[in-house]
Amino acid sequence: MGQYTSTNDDRESELQREYMAKAALCVAKQEQELGRRLKCCVVTFGCQMNARDSEKLLGILTRIGYESAENEEDADLVVYNTCTVRDNANQRVYGRLGFLHSLKDKKPHMKIVLCGCMMQEANVIEKIKKSYRFVDLVFGTHNLFKFAELLVTMFENREMIIDIWQETDQIVEELPVSRKYPYKSGVNIMFGCNNFCSYCIVPYVRGRERSRDPKEILREIERLAADGVVEVMLLGQNVNSYGRNLAEPMSFAQLLREAEQIDGIKRIRFMTSHPKDLSDELIDVMRRSDKICRHLHLPLQAGSDRILRAMNRHYTKAQYLALTDKLKAAMPDIAITTDLIVGFPGETPEDVDETIDVVRRVRFDNAFTFIYSKRTGTPAASMPDQVPDAVVREGFDRLLKTVQDTAKERAALLQGSTMEALVEEVNEQDPAFLTGRLSNNMLVHFPGDAGLIGTLADVSLDVCHGFYYTGHIIRKADGPLGKTVDDNG
Ligand code: SAH
Ligand code: SF4
Ligand code: F3S
Repeated sequence: MGQYTSTNDDRESELQREYMAKAALCVAKQEQELGRRLKCCVVTFGCQMNARDSEKLLGILTRIGYESAENEEDADLVVYNTCTVRDNANQRVYGRLGFLHSLKDKKPHMKIVLCGCMMQEANVIEKIKKSYRFVDLVFGTHNLFKFAELLVTMFENREMIIDIWQETDQIVEELPVSRKYPYKSGVNIMFGCNNFCSYCIVPYVRGRERSRDPKEILREIERLAADGVVEVMLLGQNVNSYGRNLAEPMSFAQLLREAEQIDGIKRIRFMTSHPKDLSDELIDVMRRSDKICRHLHLPLQAGSDRILRAMNRHYTKAQYLALTDKLKAAMPDIAITTDLIVGFPGETPEDVDETIDVVRRVRFDNAFTFIYSKRTGTPAASMPDQVPDAVVREGFDRLLKTVQDTAKERAALLQGSTMEALVEEVNEQDPAFLTGRLSNNMLVHFPGDAGLIGTLADVSLDVCHGFYYTGHIIRKADGPLGKTVDDNG
């Protein structure tokens, strides 16, 4: 598999800004016909990477004149930014498309756009062409930067527009972004994945690994800080391999060291770390930092060496345990979370016992437990010994119970202590309460005023409720209140 080096394409971003101006004229024309503003709704399925992509899509839609709608019913244009990591993600999209069809029957001017990871699969495109003729525009993960251009083509044509690229070496900077949260933001540091874990479809739908130029990343973080952002999450499928293919190679730890220098940024998170590439240098940078959060998401997937080998994960159970021991020795207060898969082809109940053993030993603060989903085109899909549903279910339930027990034990340890929380929102259940996030990624609910949103506060964690705390504010910190505006351009 060839390596791609990224090229930043300034000419392309200028071209796309011209298309935005053109698309804005199309929107203005429709507004005149309807006698009101147009509304759009961008729905995100899948991971943080997709959530960040959706902010870019909304940035372009806002730039060309759309207002944002809460739900699909109120929208003149709906975008589904899809995920295909497990089959249930796909099924949810097909289900909601049926509902969109009924809306479009009542509102024929409505536009329906599909994009994201699912669209990179040939069988999905065939199905859409055959059974979902009412969709107006389909594009994939590699040409998202062309959204404005594709919208213009869509407005000028009646038939379904489909534009899917198989690969790209382009990284187009300087396009508008409309952030969901004023005070925190994801920042892409790399795209794609080269790991080819045998169960995983991501490398096929997101393409080869490409790192963004560090100067662009740092400039984006500086702009975010100037705009009131206090927490950034650096995003990549395997952030630990950041920078290896740059013209001037740079490690992820070096990038973190530079990001830390940026004034105004108070917290730095990152996702996701592959255990095989986690360096001592990174542990050292984390240990010394008071901005990098005390949380590491370190997907284990499975505890059995035989299964790990078949998964192509490039580490053993013993190596994973040694790594988590090292992390805890360096940072006793670190929270470690993970992803686990049950039901990989050939997995026996004894293999699941090995995963459970790692959960007991590491005592994860949280773990996302998934049932293996067969993804067409991946090596695991054609492996023999696919595990029967009943066996998978039994293993899943056993694993989940252990995960929940250890996570509760871990959470209980912090009851009664005082920790710094970033105040994120008014509590959904009780508007007298606020919700804050601790450095270790746990949530705490406490009475307070919405004016504190976006600031850091010291909160006493009075009662642990298993996966979250309730508490009260000890000390408010001064911090800028952010506002949502375009980040770029
Ligand atoms: N790049 C990240 C993970 C991205 S996908 C990493 O390697 O850690 C997020 C999680 O989905 C994975 O960690 C894995 O646990 C799960 N996953 C991926 N493919 C899956 C499949 N085919 N079936 C079930 N879970 C899967
Ligand atoms: Fe998938 Fe593995 Fe890449 Fe993560 S590292 S995205 S699990 S192939
Ligand atoms: Fe899903 Fe694509 Fe993310 S498949 S998990 S949205 S990279």
